[in-house]
Amino acid sequence: MTSQIIPVDPFDFIVFGGTGDLAERKLLPALYYRQRDHQFSEPTRIIGTSRAKLSDADFQAFARKAITDHVKADDIDEKELEKFLARFSYVPADATTGVGFDELKKAVGDSDRIRAFYMAVSPSLFGDISHQLREHRLITPNSRIVVEKPIGRDLASARALNDLVGDDFGEQQIFRIDHYLGKETVQNLMALRFANMLYEPLWNSAHIDHVQITVAETVGLEDRVTYYDKAGALRDMVQNHILQLLCLVAMEAPSSMDADAVRDEKLKVLRALKRINGNEAPKLTVRGQYRAGASAGGPVEGYVEELGHGSDTETFVAIKAEIANWRWAGVPFYLRTGKRLATRVSEIVIEFKQIPHSIFGESAGNISPNQLVIRLQPNEGVKQYLMVKDPGPGGMRLRQIPLDMSFAQSFHSRAPDAYERLVMDVVRGNQTLFMRRDEVEAAWSWVDPILKAWEQNGQDAQGYTAGTWGPSSSIALIERDGRTWHESN
Ligand code: BG6
Repeated sequence: MTSQIIPVDPFDFIVFGGTGDLAERKLLPALYYRQRDHQFSEPTRIIGTSRAKLSDADFQAFARKAITDHVKADDIDEKELEKFLARFSYVPADATTGVGFDELKKAVGDSDRIRAFYMAVSPSLFGDISHQLREHRLITPNSRIVVEKPIGRDLASARALNDLVGDDFGEQQIFRIDHYLGKETVQNLMALRFANMLYEPLWNSAHIDHVQITVAETVGLEDRVTYYDKAGALRDMVQNHILQLLCLVAMEAPSSMDADAVRDEKLKVLRALKRINGNEAPKLTVRGQYRAGASAGGPVEGYVEELGHGSDTETFVAIKAEIANWRWAGVPFYLRTGKRLATRVSEIVIEFKQIPHSIFGESAGNISPNQLVIRLQPNEGVKQYLMVKDPGPGGMRLRQIPLDMSFAQSFHSRAPDAYERLVMDVVRGNQTLFMRRDEVEAAWSWVDPILKAWEQNGQDAQGYTAGTWGPSSSIALIERDGRTWHESN
């Protein structure tokens, strides 16, 4: 099966932080792929801006290098790359003073073409930039602003940031990116649930024992020292990506894929998450920080050595969460994420309940509960574990095997990066895969009490050796309930 490319209307894509890391590694490569697949209509332009005094040619050279460094050589089509680079121009501008915004206005012109203002900059600049855009009359009805996380570091700061951008843009124009929502398998989760009859009748506390969501990384701090040490894993991964995954697993069926229909349902889940208070936090949450160990076959330093100074920031977090509503009451959602773990894997495990009664004798062996494992990355796919009879003579011996649907084997097309899908959705004005203001704030309302409890209780980050599955208390968190973390392979 081949994917279908639906061309989008012509647009101007204005990237603040045009020469930054996000533009280089994600945005420009994503836009290049959309060019290569002929998704753009004419005239489409990409305008970079930042404080650096660069020329159009400098920005084109930067973009060319970003493409050659971050796109697979086989995917680079020289002719398309030239056409792509011809779309680029650059305007230096400083949002703190407004210098350069008149020039930016001239460069963008007066057309009513779609305008996407992409904030690939620190959130501390979101408000300044959006105010300058308004003051310089750059915001048209056909404009959108795209903001990246972190949207705040707690509820109060998230509200303040949302207010700042909300002063200048309507909610329908604000696209808050959570790149996990652009991942193919994350969208597949909705397909699995709502395009099949099989699962939905069983998708509740009567049939599901528990859910596990794991987002494990092997990388360490990388070069994000300042940001990460102030954030930690709860803010960096749980408040956004993991809670979004939880919402897609737990939400009721929206009436359509309409942006607000989907987001209304996700919001209800976030609001139903049981608050974890100070007394419960030590039992329901685990904080960890990696120590020296091994990764990818070689030795690696511990977090504080990488950082160069002492720190109690968590690089791992595990949480036993609960959703207080009719569908999910009593079904634990075990969440875990961390850096420098044993393997890079993101997956969702739905474990069904034990059968009520076994008709098989002891010689049949254990009957394991069915598991549905949705693998987000790498090796995207879905495995449904079932009990079957061991073939051949020797009586009725039972064994668990997976029905294995690997997406790479089933579909022979390239899996697009999340940003490709999301950036085109921005142009189309489709907000289904973007977070609405109330969702972000509801997620913080659940995270804030955990942060507060950690601080009040002095709940330290427990050490774990790099290359393992996190602190032993994370294993205890689930084993205490007579369950185990699914072993990813
Ligand atoms: C980002 C986090 O949002 O997601 C990073 O800030 C993390 O710390 C990254 O490494 C993981 O994304 P992916 O797509 O590689 O799973």
